[in-house]
This record gives sequence, structure tokens and C-alpha cells, in this order.
Amino acid sequence: MIQISLKHLLNKKEVSGLLDELLAAMKININIYGIDGISLTGNEDIEPGEKYSVELGKEVIGWVWGPAPQAKTVAQFLSYLANKELEKKVLAEETLEKYKEINVFYEIGEKLAGNLNKYEIAILTLNEARRLIPGEDYFILFYNEDDKRFENISLGGSNTEEPFGPKKEIAENVLHNGKAELINDLGADHRFSGKSLNIVSMICAPLKTKNQNIGVIGISSTAKLNYTAQDLKILNALSFYVATTIQTAKLYDDLKETFVTTIYTLAETIEKRDPYTGGHTRRVMAYSVAIAQVLQLPQDAIERVRMAAILHDIGKIGVSDSILLKSGELTEEEFQEIKMHPIYGEEILKHIKQLHDIIPGVKFHHERYDGLGYPENLAGKEIDLTARIVAVADSFDAMTTNRSYKDALPLELALDELRINAGTQFDPLIVNAFLHGCETGIVKLWR
Ligand SMILES: [Fe+2]
Repeated sequence: MIQISLKHLLNKKEVSGLLDELLAAMKININIYGIDGISLTGNEDIEPGEKYSVELGKEVIGWVWGPAPQAKTVAQFLSYLANKELEKKVLAEETLEKYKEINVFYEIGEKLAGNLNKYEIAILTLNEARRLIPGEDYFILFYNEDDKRFENISLGGSNTEEPFGPKKEIAENVLHNGKAELINDLGADHRFSGKSLNIVSMICAPLKTKNQNIGVIGISSTAKLNYTAQDLKILNALSFYVATTIQTAKLYDDLKETFVTTIYTLAETIEKRDPYTGGHTRRVMAYSVAIAQVLQLPQDAIERVRMAAILHDIGKIGVSDSILLKSGELTEEEFQEIKMHPIYGEEILKHIKQLHDIIPGVKFHHERYDGLGYPENLAGKEIDLTARIVAVADSFDAMTTNRSYKDALPLELALDELRINAGTQFDPLIVNAFLHGCETGIVKLWR
């Protein structure tokens, strides 16, 4: 059960700011009490007036005491904010639940499909066919709906060539009718009489998934062979294997995409906990990818940078609101708790094999080039390159946006800060890349 206390609500800078403005406009003094009866505004010596409850749903979470009717308006205003806050928290919880659920499916999918892609599945199957059925050209033709062409994967025949002649004609029939064909002498088949033939015997079966035929599997030969019903039965079994495995692999790919989307939503939900950081994830991602482009990293490394930037603060889901959103100065103990978020991030990501290689980028984004960062006091090139990139992008965005505890720096001053701290806080190579990106327009600055 998610709880919101009135004390927590009033501690939020944007709430206390709005309340001060409201009271100034009403020209009144009030006192606010928590559910435990302790004053939260410290104005206990003011004139008592009427007492109005602050309600979260049907539950009373505190009181506003002051002159009517203004105190009633204040109580209603605080009730409204408390309910909004609850909505936000419920959203965060729900996303976390969704994440857990998808993670389970994801792991199952991974076990079922392994890391096979459709080409590996095709080659495995064709090798099996070659062991079991006589022939020369063992092939799978995947049909592409978009360009209406076959993609030919072949053992024994040409791998790159588009199918043509009788091979293509039979494959099209099998694909569209969904029925296997066994032809031991193409010359005796009326469809091919009078045509010059480059093959004599062929068997072919459709690859059927639940919703459609995705291609065919077949064997052909330039010599006359006597394929039997038993051969066709084996070919049908192999085709069933290919189709279902590919379908599972596709499901797994979809799941992976859903998973990444959920992770992104999760990152955004964490952002929504603090209205001051709206858009932070998106900007850190854009800056980080631009730096990686200036550094001319290979495409797969750029993708790792992108994912690490999206997820760099995912571990903040494990830090309590009262600390994360506190507007005043943090105690040493609270700061230690905040410093745990890169480690919490690692905890979350290590359950997802496909995201293992971005863990260093997430775990070490608060390390400093001079070794004075956290969590492991790594220095210089010991720090993962992705983490060094995200560190610059993250800090620059933090400097140039308003936060609950400080106003934004002008862009020029923030760029100066990067220059000044190159070699201490930041890797000079990354700072130079960022500055170069700003000059050349590869880095697009917000504001
Ligand atoms: Fe962080």
C-alpha cells in the first residue's frame, strides 16, 4: 500500500512554493498539522480559527487550522496535491511490476529460442535434411511479403541466386496452396512439358506458422531420384521445426522490443517523480550519442552508449522519494543512499543478458577521471568509455536545467565548467569531443 504523508508533501519545494504564494495572496496565517498532531508549519501561536481536514482518497492525512473560508481552500488545495502525488507513485509502482513480469517472459523466451536467428535455424535444418534425404540442392526459400521475392538459403546449390525456372514455379505453388509437392520426373509433369529443365526431381513443403506461410523448404536434383512418401513426411517434420522455431525467435524479438520499451518507460517514470528533471533522460541520450558520433565509435558501440544513457539512473527506483526529492541539503547518510543508485542499476540490469554490456556504462557514470568519484573510485581509462561519455552528458544537462536545489547555468558558463573540470572530473578527450560537437552542430544544445 503506497503512503503519502503531509510532511513529505510540504517538504517538496514546488509544493511549499505554491503554498507560500497562495497564503500571501490570501493574506492569512494558518497552521498545518500532520496526522500525528505535530505542527508542520511551526506557527502554533497564531489565532486559532476553523479546522479542515486534508484528505488522500477517504483517508485524513492532516489538518489546516486557520480563518474560514480561506483555510478550507488551503485544505482542499493540499488534498488535491496529495492525490496527484499518489497517482504518480502508483504509476511508478505499476511500471516496476510490469518490468518484473516482462523480465520473466523474456528469460523463458531466451531459453526457448537461444540466440538463434532464422539463418542459423535454416542451415541447421538443411544439414539435417541432407543427412536424411537424398538430393543435390537443399534449400529454404523465405518469402518476403514486401517485395514479393524469395530469399534463397541453400546447401549444395547457389546461396545467392534468386530461384528461377521450375524451382521457383514449384516453390510459389507450394507457398500459395500450403500443400507439399513430390515430383520425381519434372519432364513428365504437364506444367513443364516442352520447357528446358535444369532439375529433374524435387520435393518441397511449405513453412507454416500460425498465421501465414513464410516460405518453403525443398530438395532438388539434376538426376532422377525416387522420392517416397516417407521422404516427404520427414521434410514436413523439418518444415514444422523451422517454422515454429522461427516463430518463437520472432516472439522473442518482439518481447525484447517490448522489454526495451518498458525499460524506457521505467526510466521516464523515475524522471516523473521529480518534475525538475523532465526530459533529462532524452537529453542525456542525445548528448551521449552525439559524443559517440564525434568520436566515430562503431555502430554497435553507439547503440550501447544510447542504452546506457537511457538507463543511467534506472537505479534511482531503489532510492526513496524523501531523499531523492528533498529540496534542502542532504545529510551524509542520505547522500550515501543516493550514491547507491549506480549499484542498484547494476542489480536491475544484470538480470537481462542482452543488457549486460551496458552495465559498466550505468554503474560507473558517477566515477571521476581523477579517481574521486563513486562507487569504486576508478580513475582515467579504468572507467568504462561509455560511462565517461554519459558522465559528461549527464553533468552538462544537470548544469543547464533548473533543479529543485539550484537554477540553471547559462550555456556558455556550463561549457566553461566542462573545460575547467577536464582532467579532474571529466575525461579531457570526451570534453573535447563534446565541445567539438557543439562547434560542428553534431551536438544540439537544448534551450
Ligand atoms: Fe546518476
